[in-house]
Formats: sequence, C-alpha cells, structure tokens
Amino acid sequence: MVKPLRKAVMPVAGLGTRFLPATKALAKEMLPVVDRPLIQYAVDEARAAGIEQFCFITGRGKTAIVEHFDVAYELEKTLEERGKTEILQELRALAMPPGSIVTVRQQVPMGLGHAIWCARSFIGDDPFAILLPDDLMLCDTPCMAQLAEAYAATGGNVVAIEEVPRERVNRYGVIAPGATRGNLVEVTGLVEKPPVEKAPSNLTIIGRYVLMPEVIGHLAKMEKGAGGEVQLTDGMAKLIGRQPFHGLRYEGRRFDCGDKAGFLEAQIAFALKRPDLAPQVRAFLDKYR
Ligand code: G1P
Repeated sequence: MVKPLRKAVMPVAGLGTRFLPATKALAKEMLPVVDRPLIQYAVDEARAAGIEQFCFITGRGKTAIVEHFDVAYELEKTLEERGKTEILQELRALAMPPGSIVTVRQQVPMGLGHAIWCARSFIGDDPFAILLPDDLMLCDTPCMAQLAEAYAATGGNVVAIEEVPRERVNRYGVIAPGATRGNLVEVTGLVEKPPVEKAPSNLTIIGRYVLMPEVIGHLAKMEKGAGGEVQLTDGMAKLIGRQPFHGLRYEGRRFDCGDKAGFLEAQIAFALKRPDLAPQVRAFLDKYR
C-alpha cells in the first residue's frame, strides 16, 4: 500500500515580472481567467485529486492570496441581505476547511528548488504534490487526479510531461525517456533548461508533480543549477535509480499563464467552456478575424 497523497505545495513567491505593470501591486496568481484567480484553479484541481492540506510558498506582496481563501464574513452578510443567494452559495462552496492552508515565506528568490525546500516542515515524511499555478490545465479528468492515479499505481515520483517542438525545450525541465507503458514513461534522466542541441528528448515537465519526501534532502544541499538557481529538476534527478520515477503524458491541455499570449488564449478557451458566456464570446471572436 502506498502512502495516500494528501499534501500539496504551491510556490507563489514569484515576482510576475512578465506581467508588469499589472503585477506591481497584485500577485500574478490573483490574475483572473474569466472570473476566478489562477490560484483558485490550482487549489480546485488539487482538491479534486483528494488533496486536503496546502502549503503556499509566498513572499512579499502576496497577502491577497491568503485573503482569497479566508471567509469574507462582511461580504457574505451583505450578499445574504441583498438576496444574492446564487453567488453566495458559490463562494461558500469554495470555502476551505479550517486549518487546511499554511503559508511559508521564501525570503529570497533562490529558485524553485529552494522554494520547495522552504516547505520541508510541512512535507515531513509524506509524499506531496506540487502545482505551479502559472500552468493552467483544461482536462476532463483533472491533471493532478491523473498524476495521483499514476502515483498509486507506481508508488513513486511522477511528473506530468508533454511533447513540445524541439526548439522550445530550452524553456523547460526535460526528461530522458526509458521504457514506455501506455501513458507512463520511465524517467532515466532529467535536465533543467538544456540547450536545444543537448536536450535528451522533447518531452518536457509541466507544473504538476507528485514527489517523495526524499527530494528535500537533495535540495538541502543548495547546489546551484541553470540560471544560478537551486533547481527542483536537479533535486529530482538525484532520486532516479533509487526510487520509481515516471513521466505521465497527461490527457488535456496546458495554458502557460506566465506568458501573455498563453494567458489570453486561456481566457478564450475557458470562456468557451462556459455555457453562460460561450455564445457571446463566439460572436465577438468572429468580429476579429
Ligand atoms: C519550472 C521548472 C521547469 C518546468 C516548468 C513548467 O520552470 O523549473 O522544469 O518545466 O516550471 O512550467 P519555470 O517556468 O519556473 O522557469
């Protein structure tokens, strides 16, 4: 029996420089796609995979993220008095159980690996998920639920992967693939943002992981990798050969909401999934052909 997956770490300390000036006073994770902030999508996806405990790795200027998951008593009361029951119910359905969110500050931006290491007390001896809220997923079965299933089947580390055109591999963590069984690919090596000509494949890691707690010991060495940062990918690479490690070709689509064009495409794709908005959106899209 593998240990159940109940914990998720969400790094949200990034400065969001690619979205300035919008992110000067607003956390990038609070940017909305249609009518909910990016962080809400990530939390909902994790909860749909059975995750109950959350650790946000925050930094300066990120308090709105924590506020967002608090009970807004005055707001709820006002909505109740005005008879706005539908939206009130929607807000209440999103409420998090008491004590289910903790936050840890990453005081200095030293890289994704360092951010995850900051959550070491929260992780303890348990397997844990990581969701990078910039990667917004549109999947019939939530992406994290697909990973959780793969974790239950393999009992080890699983990262969501996708194929990208060769010339773009240098933006991602890249896997060296071994044996393939259905959607599961054995990982025999991992490289963070390799030069195109040195990449072991064009299978790249997206922002969804299920990792074993042993990765923390490797991250603790604070070895600097690509871009002079402590890279999660380098810590994960140390697990290969010691524990099962697989890539899962997830089913669905990913939108890179850390990128302006990706963010705009996500708005359209998510709006078109909404029966209340789709007809209007289709009609106005026609105007811009
Ligand atoms: C991070 C990881 C990278 C991964 C990517 C997915 O990179 O370091 O391995 O492929 O997320 O979005 P970042 O986007 O923070 O540069």
